[in-house]
Amino acid sequence: MAAIVQLTPYTNIPETARISADPQAPGFVQNPYGFYQQLHAVSAPAFWDQYGHWCFASFKDVSALLRDKRFGREILHVATREEIGMPQPQAHTADFDLTEQYSLLNLEPPGHTRLRTLVNRAFVSRHVEQLRPRILKLANEMIDAFQDIDAFQDQDSVDLIKAFAAPIPAIIIAEMIGLPAESAPQLLAWSNRMVAMYMFGVTREVELDANAAAAEFTDYLRGVIAERRKQPREDLLTHMITAEQNGERLSDEEVLSTVILLLNAGHEATVHTTGNGVKSILESGLDPATLFTSDAQTAATVEECLRFDAPLHLFTRYTLSDMDYNGITLRKGDVIGMLMGAANRDPARFANASSFDPFRTDGANVSFGAGIHFCIGAPLARIELQIALSTLFERLPRLRLAEPPQYNDVYPFHGLQKLMVRWD
Ligand code: HEM
Repeated sequence: MAAIVQLTPYTNIPETARISADPQAPGFVQNPYGFYQQLHAVSAPAFWDQYGHWCFASFKDVSALLRDKRFGREILHVATREEIGMPQPQAHTADFDLTEQYSLLNLEPPGHTRLRTLVNRAFVSRHVEQLRPRILKLANEMIDAFQDIDAFQDQDSVDLIKAFAAPIPAIIIAEMIGLPAESAPQLLAWSNRMVAMYMFGVTREVELDANAAAAEFTDYLRGVIAERRKQPREDLLTHMITAEQNGERLSDEEVLSTVILLLNAGHEATVHTTGNGVKSILESGLDPATLFTSDAQTAATVEECLRFDAPLHLFTRYTLSDMDYNGITLRKGDVIGMLMGAANRDPARFANASSFDPFRTDGANVSFGAGIHFCIGAPLARIELQIALSTLFERLPRLRLAEPPQYNDVYPFHGLQKLMVRWD
C-alpha cells in the first residue's frame, strides 16, 4: 500500500465541517496557502472532501498529533484487513510493496525502534558535520559548471533545480550509502518514478511505472549488497549488512527497504527546499547579503525557508483504536491528515505568519515532523541547505529570477518544476 488512504467512508460528518479543494487543480497546487488560510479562519479540524478524511491545520494540533501514540503509520498490527476493509495486496504493485514493507516510515515499535536504532548513528549531527567540506566542494563545483556552460553556450539563464538543487543531496546520500556519485542521476530517476505513488490521485499507469522502477532499483541494489558481502567497505550499506543488535542482523529485504527510503527521502525534500528557499529569498525583496552574515543567521534563514514554503505538506496516520478526538468520532483504521504546510503558517503560532522573515525568533516549524518518525535526515538536510544557500548567494550576489517559477502539480509535494535564474 503506497500512501495511506481512507478505506471505509466516514459517516455523519457535519456539513459545516466539510471543506472542498481539488488537490489537482492548477490554482491550488501553485498556491495552497489560500486554502490553508480558510482552514485557519475556521480554527477547527476540517473534513477534506476530496481526501475523504479529517485534516488538521493548526500548529498545536499537528504538533500534538505527530507525537500521539494513539495514531500510527501501520494498522495491520492491531486490525485485520477484513475488519477495516483493506484490500488484499495487488500483484501489479508487488515489487513496489516489497520496498515499502520494511520502510521505517511504515513501521511502528518495536520493528521501527530496532531498524531506526541501526541506521540512526550515521545521521546524528556529530557524524554528518564531517560532511561539510564535501558538501561545500560540491556546491562550488555545481556553480562553476553552470557558469561555464552558460558562458560557452551564450545562454543567460539556468534552471537552478537541475543545475544546483538536485545533484547535491542526491550525490551526498548516494556516497553515504556507498553508491558511486555517477549513479546519482539513475537513482534520481528511479526515485522520482517511485515517489509518484504518494501523490493525490494515483492512476494505474503511475502504479505500473512505480512498480517497474522499484523492480529495477531492487535488482541493482541486490547486486551491490552481494558485492559488499564479499568486500565490505567503510559505508552505510556495509554497516547495515553487518550491524548486529541483540544477536540479530537485518534481512536483505530490510536493508533494501531502508536504502531505498534513505535515497528517496534523502534528496527529494532537500532539493525542493533549496528551490523554494531561493524563490522565497528572491521574491522577498530582502538583500541576500544580510541573510548569511553568521552561522546563526544562516541557520535562521534556512529554518524560515523550511517554515515559509515547506516541501512536504501533508502526512497521514491511522487511528489505532476507536476514540473521540476533540469532539470528532474516529474508528479504528480511520485516516487523519496533518497539514504541515498549513501548520507552519498558523497565525495563532507565528507573528505575520504569511511573511517571509529570516530574522524572526519564533521560527520553529514542523517541516521535519515530530515524534518517533521525526526526520532522521534533518541534521544532514539542514547542513546541506545552509551550505547550498549561503554559497549560492555569496558567489552570485546579483542572482535573480529569469521567469516566474512554477510548482510541480503533485500535491502534497510542494516543489518547483524549474527555477530559471540569471546572475550577471
Ligand atoms: C528538507 C529536507 C527534508 C524534509 C522537509 C523532510 C521531512 C520529513 C518528514 C516530515 C518526515 C516524517 C514523516 C511522518 O511523520 O510521517 C521525515 C521522515 C524521514 N526522513 Fe526526512 N526530510 C528531509 C530530508 C531528509 C534526508 C536528507 C533524509 C536522509 C538522508 C531523510 C530521511 C528520512 C527518513 C528515513 C524518515 C523516516 C523516519 C522514521 O519513520 O522514523 N529526510 N522526513
